[in-house]
Amino acid sequence: MRLLRQVADYVRVRGLTCLVKAAVHRFVFQYQRLLVLELWLDRFVGPSRRMCRSLSRIHIRRATGADVDQVMDLLRRNGYWRRRREFEDALGQESSFFIATHGACLIAYALVSRAIPSTCGFSKPLRLGPGCAYGVYAFVAPRYRGLAVYPALMVEVVRELSERGYKRILLVCDPRNRAALSSHRRVGMTVVQELRIVRVAGLSTARLRLAVGEAAGGTRD
Ligand SMILES: CC(C)(COP(=O)(O)OP(=O)(O)OC[C@H]1O[C@@H](n2cnc3c(N)ncnc32)[C@H](O)[C@@H]1OP(=O)(O)O)[C@@H](O)C(=O)NCCC(=O)NCCS
Repeated sequence: MRLLRQVADYVRVRGLTCLVKAAVHRFVFQYQRLLVLELWLDRFVGPSRRMCRSLSRIHIRRATGADVDQVMDLLRRNGYWRRRREFEDALGQESSFFIATHGACLIAYALVSRAIPSTCGFSKPLRLGPGCAYGVYAFVAPRYRGLAVYPALMVEVVRELSERGYKRILLVCDPRNRAALSSHRRVGMTVVQELRIVRVAGLSTARLRLAVGEAAGGTRD
């Protein structure tokens, strides 16, 4: 029943064509190349003083269960869809989940988890290791983009993770997502590896490779 409701919600937000494409990707054939980025928390770069001025009316705080509806709404209004359960689970676990508001309006969120969700299909090759968290799922409402809302959310995420003893974050990003790559790099992340995922008839393989020419910074293990 819950699954049916999720499918109906997905179709309402993304449309039937997207559902068919997603099903083909999931069960027939998918080739995906993702970049793996790393952030050492002690190398985090927060927003500049100039950027902080543009953020003066934006309030950042830890998310609570009461915010999940607004987070889902923010995504829906902008044609994105995620399972509600991901956010509810994040609140129950040791995740760092922060939101940004402007007045009464929720305008952005960032979420870093303790582990790679098993549904991702690359939790085997991509090992987090001790002191490493996984994320970042982030979304900023289109009219607030380019104002460093994401770096401002990351200030809180990094502070909380450091207090909990974490040393770094690993995340994956589609190489075509220029805005996200630029923003991740601005806060001090570096591309360290590349992940290639092939899914055929429900079976998937995921391989890690060194991202040639982009692995500036290296690892410190
Ligand atoms: C990625 C994202 C979270 C960045 O948030 P942000 O608060 O805008 O981050 P920044 O202010 O640091 O801006 C980062 C980049 O956004 C782009 N940008 C700037 N102004 C923009 C605008 N008005 N509209 C769209 N993108 C803009 C630029 O490429 C900028 O980098 P640059 O200044 O080096 O050119 C946001 O673009 C977003 O929500 N994207 C959709 C969801 C997504 O891709 N999430 C990340 C998955 S890994």
